[in-house]
Amino acid sequence: MSGSPDPAEHRAEHTVEHLAGHRFDYETAGLDVADVDADPMVQWRRWFDEAVEAGCTEPNAFVLSTVDADGWPQSRYLLLRGADERGFTCFTNYESAKSHELTATGRASMLFTWLQLHRQVRVTVVAERVPEAESDDYFASRPRMSQVGAWASPQSQPIPDRAWLEDRVQQMADTFGDGDVLRPAFWGGWLLRPMAFEFWQGRPSRLHDRLRYTPAADSDGWQIDRLSP
Ligand SMILES: Cc1cc2nc3c(=O)[nH]c(=O)nc-3n(C[C@H](O)[C@H](O)[C@H](O)COP(=O)(O)O)c2cc1C
Repeated sequence: MSGSPDPAEHRAEHTVEHLAGHRFDYETAGLDVADVDADPMVQWRRWFDEAVEAGCTEPNAFVLSTVDADGWPQSRYLLLRGADERGFTCFTNYESAKSHELTATGRASMLFTWLQLHRQVRVTVVAERVPEAESDDYFASRPRMSQVGAWASPQSQPIPDRAWLEDRVQQMADTFGDGDVLRPAFWGGWLLRPMAFEFWQGRPSRLHDRLRYTPAADSDGWQIDRLSP
């Protein structure tokens, strides 16, 4: 072994310092009503872009919390696939537990966390299915084995074992052969329309910044309130 530094180790150290630097900048600058966009989707996009820029892991991952038929909150990660003026979109199995809960209540909470920047965004949403054509387009863009997997997996249902699932994937793959794999009717997108947002920026000494957006009483815009940390 030579005494020269291990390049991989050097890269890892550099990356950690890089992220810590970002976090420190944001903690120092803080978050103020005067700095944020009046439109919370624009503000969300700004933070998302900064999370991508900072190299945050899976920056489009978020926790979706729903409430089940017995009133128990249920949380799981999903990947965000769209964000526009309507709201946020994600894709899943319509027969899954989460989809049954979204259908029953029409309500959910989304949580984005970009820990390297010491930031989180909470979004209170109402849920509806996206138009069928949008689900078709997204399904068509997925890798073939993900398409086959969507057909094979009865998401959220108990199954005998791993081999059962792998056999089903193989059977589905054989059934489709070289043909197109069309979207199953039980799989598609959810549009999550924001009702309220809370942007949280970690600050030194636990005096964090929290800005909440709620619909304004007297206009189409949003009211912004600072909440105590
Ligand atoms: C980072 C991450 C991203 C995920 N993205 C999705 C997704 O986009 N769609 C999905 O159906 N499941 C996704 N999952 C799996 C879900 O967390 C969950 O296990 C699954 O959807 C079944 O949830 P349910 O039984 O509550 O409906 C993801 C998991 C992780 C950890």
